[in-house]
Amino acid sequence: MRIGVLTAGGDCPGLNAVIRSVVHRALVGHGDEVIGFEDGFKGLLDGHYRPLDLNNVSGILARGGTILGSARLERDRLREAAENCGELTERYGIDALIPIGGEGTLTAARMLSDAGMPVVGVPKTIDNDISGTDRTFGFDTAVGVATEAIDRLKTTAESHQRVMVVEVMGRHAGWIALESGMAGGAHGICLPERPFEVDSLVKMVEERFARGKKFAVICVAEGARPAEGSMPYEKGLVDQFGHERFTGIGTRLAIELETRLGKEARPVILGHVQRGGTPTAYDRVLATRFGWHAVEAAHRQDFGNMTALRGTDITMVPLAEAVTELKTVPDERMYEAESVF
Ligand code: F6P
Repeated sequence: MRIGVLTAGGDCPGLNAVIRSVVHRALVGHGDEVIGFEDGFKGLLDGHYRPLDLNNVSGILARGGTILGSARLERDRLREAAENCGELTERYGIDALIPIGGEGTLTAARMLSDAGMPVVGVPKTIDNDISGTDRTFGFDTAVGVATEAIDRLKTTAESHQRVMVVEVMGRHAGWIALESGMAGGAHGICLPERPFEVDSLVKMVEERFARGKKFAVICVAEGARPAEGSMPYEKGLVDQFGHERFTGIGTRLAIELETRLGKEARPVILGHVQRGGTPTAYDRVLATRFGWHAVEAAHRQDFGNMTALRGTDITMVPLAEAVTELKTVPDERMYEAESVF
């Protein structure tokens, strides 16, 4: 069998672990051939690819990023790929394509699969917001980075009697904010799933100061928004794909709190630090299992599905199920955190 593999969308710690696992299982387990397309679907469309052997993937398990490169693809080019998928499959002589990516990539994978390409998806995102799988690799690493930041911010906040507002990733779902906020013991957590009340945050900080704890750390997801009328909020800048981005919610909230509290507040935006660097052991294992199962699925001709974690088992889930709606934080999980505003 000849298998094509690609990584698309935003990168994520663990991508290289999947690539390595696919190559190992395919070459050693089945005697297959593997080719890697460069820069996501662009490589597939433009003919940029290279054969992958055991030496190419040696030493990459612990390395962040992706040796294949990654990119987002414009809708028109995706349509071009779907329309030509028979020709593309033939051109590269591939019996299966394993695209590794988030919601956008899996939507593209579904389009190609519906058009007849033999596709096995592998979900990835640090945001952990893909339906159909309990976890995505990269999430554990991102939560670890954000938790360490909260731990560190607490000591400097206490020294200066400040409020620190740490903004973490999560445009549509607040999993990173929730879990790093819980693990770091943030005094306030703001999620995209629930508009936050600034009055409640002000009250929480005042109560802490009143009982002698003269600092606070608030963990805010980049997609969190204030409740209507809670504080002034203008839309952020819109990116080339029409998404509202660069909202500066952490900075805006820090300024608002400083003004209302009359105490010093500082924003800290963690950004892509959460996506870079070496994956945790948990993410390496999950990524490796996904790669192994993706190759097995290809050999069973189990196409149009993606690998997924359910409980402790890896299973296959239809791509359609994964891309219909995002997996957001349910209310029960917010109640457990208590500090969600
Ligand atoms: O989708 C994962 C994610 O990390 C989001 O939380 C974040 O908004 C986005 O990627 C940023 O991606 P990029 O800067 O690569 O466009």
